Amino acid sequence: MKPNANQEIYEKLSLLVNTFVDTHELSNEAFLKRALDSAFELIPDAEKGSIYINQDGVYRPVCARGYDLTILDRLSFTDTDLFIGFEYHDLSHIKAYQNYISKREDSKFSDEILQTFKALGTYQDFTSLYAPLVFDQQIIGLISLEKFVNKPYSKLCQDVLKFYAQSISNYYALKLRYDHEKRLYDQTIMSLVTAIEIKDPYTEGHARRVMLYSEWIGTALQLPSRELEKLKIAALLHDVGKIGISNDILNKPGRLTVDEFDQIKKHPDNAKKILTNLADFNDIVMMTYMHHEHFDGSGYPQGLKGDEINFGAHIIQVADAYDAMTSERSYRKAMTHEAAIQILLEDSGRQFHPDVVSAAVAILNLIKQTE
Ligand SMILES: [Fe+2]
Ligand SMILES: [Fe+2]
Repeated sequence: MKPNANQEIYEKLSLLVNTFVDTHELSNEAFLKRALDSAFELIPDAEKGSIYINQDGVYRPVCARGYDLTILDRLSFTDTDLFIGFEYHDLSHIKAYQNYISKREDSKFSDEILQTFKALGTYQDFTSLYAPLVFDQQIIGLISLEKFVNKPYSKLCQDVLKFYAQSISNYYALKLRYDHEKRLYDQTIMSLVTAIEIKDPYTEGHARRVMLYSEWIGTALQLPSRELEKLKIAALLHDVGKIGISNDILNKPGRLTVDEFDQIKKHPDNAKKILTNLADFNDIVMMTYMHHEHFDGSGYPQGLKGDEINFGAHIIQVADAYDAMTSERSYRKAMTHEAAIQILLEDSGRQFHPDVVSAAVAILNLIKQTE
């Protein structure tokens, strides 16, 4: 084989592989666009193409090459209305089909649809190579490539499109499932946050602000994005254990008695009980459980110190303190930003982790200046 033939095969293989890696970072539309563009590279005689996706029973074009998407959208169709001439025989095995249309039968279509075909160039003399996108034996969409000659696509082109249809089906179905689970996960977390806010109206907005400050500090400390995500969730949920504390104590204006304060101190334990059963929450549980531990060991519930404390918990500790100090309560006024920063600095190495205080002071000052 000639050296440049090898090079060509290598480039095609790498295109194929790269189409289906790191797809979790893409939106569904971006993923489908990437797949369509890549199919065009490997089926070079295709001139135009599109991917339709079934959205609530209607197939809509999500991306296209060579077609105007808004014109294509006029051909959106339903399951019972597969009028464009696509037929599938066996949904348990995805196959590619092809169809030459010398001219549309005018009597079968409305004037509007015929005009749309003409505008798209699919009224006469074209060959479609298409395949259903299928998941669980249900059609979830359609990929279709057109060329404007009466010449069949080769067996290789059919196999390539079949491969793309199978791969897009698998990846797209996984993405949909992931999106669905992520939505459920986010909703579960927000329900818990709302539960805390209903229970303790004084702290309304507190959880969200602590999340925001934790994110800023974590970013300033260059935490990896996965760690940052966990930190944000733990910060949102850090006081979830207050759900188990009596309203009289939570809503009491003024100072708490020692007994009452002992009750409040149970909220990290409660958080652990509430969150422990959630899958993959180990780090998040530890961050919430330890957010009242102090760097010098004087905190609760266990009196841990320094590196014994989860690093995310050190960040939440600082974010929590800053928000508590700068928020107004019924029994006291809000402290200024400068005064709160002063206290963070004074308690650095005592209540707070010094590295976290340095990062927090730098980022909070910077953001305050730009406000
Ligand atoms: Fe707390
Ligand atoms: Fe808090």
